[in-house]
Amino acid sequence: MDHISTYAALRPHPSHPPIPALAGGYLHARPESPSTTEDTGVPGTLGALTAGQLRRLCGIAGMGPGEADAHGRTLLQALGPVADRPLDLPPVTPTFLSDDHTPVEFSLSFTPGAAPALRVLLEPGCGAGSPARSGRAGLAAVREMARRWNFSTAALDELEDLFLPPAPEGPFALWCALELRPGGAPKVKVYLNPAARGADRATATVREALHRLGHRQAFDALPPAGRLLFFAIDLGDWDEPRLKVYLAHHDLTAGAAGGLCRMDPGPGEAEIRAFFDLAAGTDAVRLDRRPGQTCHAFTETVTRRPSGFTLYVPVRDYVRDDAEALARAVAVLDRYGMDPAPLLAAVPALTGRSLTDGTGLIAYLGLAHQQGRPPRVTAYLSSEAYAVRPPAGAPAAEAVH
Ligand code: TRP
Repeated sequence: MDHISTYAALRPHPSHPPIPALAGGYLHARPESPSTTEDTGVPGTLGALTAGQLRRLCGIAGMGPGEADAHGRTLLQALGPVADRPLDLPPVTPTFLSDDHTPVEFSLSFTPGAAPALRVLLEPGCGAGSPARSGRAGLAAVREMARRWNFSTAALDELEDLFLPPAPEGPFALWCALELRPGGAPKVKVYLNPAARGADRATATVREALHRLGHRQAFDALPPAGRLLFFAIDLGDWDEPRLKVYLAHHDLTAGAAGGLCRMDPGPGEAEIRAFFDLAAGTDAVRLDRRPGQTCHAFTETVTRRPSGFTLYVPVRDYVRDDAEALARAVAVLDRYGMDPAPLLAAVPALTGRSLTDGTGLIAYLGLAHQQGRPPRVTAYLSSEAYAVRPPAGAPAAEAVH
């Protein structure tokens, strides 16, 4: 069987045991051909491809076919008209949501002893035309979800003028992520652009947003960073909704990463350093190709400190190919006693290509700490609807499906 031989070809992280065999329960059929509908030769659509990928990932995350279909339909609805776009046309916008401009990215978030949580990040206003229209379409998509799943958008409404002004600047206006649960409505996260009113006002914008939502001292608790990337809010049925600020850190080293957490109590520096080394690989002394990122989550206003910290390592820029990226992911999961089988099964759920033929299927590895909860390891998985990035060192031409 093809996928088994793909795994056999993996080169495990040198300091780690071989990658465990694929657990039988996670075996999945190989996906349909990505760009044509089987037999007919008719180009497939962005929606059909990504909803198919999502349905297969739902199976891996412990959901049944009915739920998987429902989540697939949710993805199509959230994408809007761009879902019907044939895959033989180029991406509708050069969104930086993913490297090949697919406006969809998946992630599997692991905790010990449980099925991973499946999430999907998407740009609902993708293809609406201008950033202003895209922002409005994104907002409309979130409001539609709020009606359907009966949650309040009050926090988002409070911030509309800050992040969705009449003529927003910057490369995106609104992204949203859905955490897809077995037996319940998805939990929703909305990502907004700190530079929407101008890059020079990003600090003021984020400060004001935190202030309006009651976190008056929060901004001063953030560590020094290169750039404010995202401001995010949780909407819907969360135990503890978070406000999150995402920062970029250029030339990040393991030592510097260890010093970026502002939780108290929080993970020790040694733990963060160890994650950095496993995810970035021992050759990458510093993240000088694509920056590392951190996320600081605020859930209460008493301590003036974040209660959550996540470090993201853009593993794809520090490996030869996805076989190496997967081995890094497995090494991290292994350190936390988490079962890598769902991640191994996710590969053939997403793509028919071999892991050594490209890089970027695993885009980021993240380690999240949230007070009162066990640590989570997350792998961000690309759809590759439009292109596969060749392995490092391979000829530059992109292999387009
Ligand atoms: N693609 C963008 C990037 O690489 C944004 C992004 C998508 C991202 N998924 C992410 C950033 C996960 C951090 C973690 O920066």
